[in-house]
Amino acid sequence: MKGLKCEQDLFCGINRPKSSKPEEMSDLEKKHTPVIEISGKPEKGEPLEVTVKVGEHLKHPNEHGHFIQWIELYSGNTFLGRTDFASERANPKAVFTVKLDHIHPLKALEHCNLHGTWEATKEI
Ligand SMILES: [Fe+2]
Repeated sequence: MKGLKCEQDLFCGINRPKSSKPEEMSDLEKKHTPVIEISGKPEKGEPLEVTVKVGEHLKHPNEHGHFIQWIELYSGNTFLGRTDFASERANPKAVFTVKLDHIHPLKALEHCNLHGTWEATKEI
């Protein structure tokens, strides 16, 4: 729509880095793109530990006026869990133990109070 510049508005939709390679990301992308790590081999019906961190490529501020508010984890589009954070006293890292019925790519969303919602996916 004319007059709306959604593609330039970080709070319009979900932000994704232009490249998945950290060396090709902007500083904004490095600070906000979640990093998904798994511990162990994903198998249907078996517990799988998934860690999601924000600021792994470049540290994100963690102060009252600028911080990561939450992280969510999905298997494909199936919601698995959410962690909320307080500013200053909580680092933006969440560990989930999940049991998957189907093996789909994992998706993590995080929300920064100043820079909107960011997504990363990981094939498993
Ligand atoms: Fe931010």
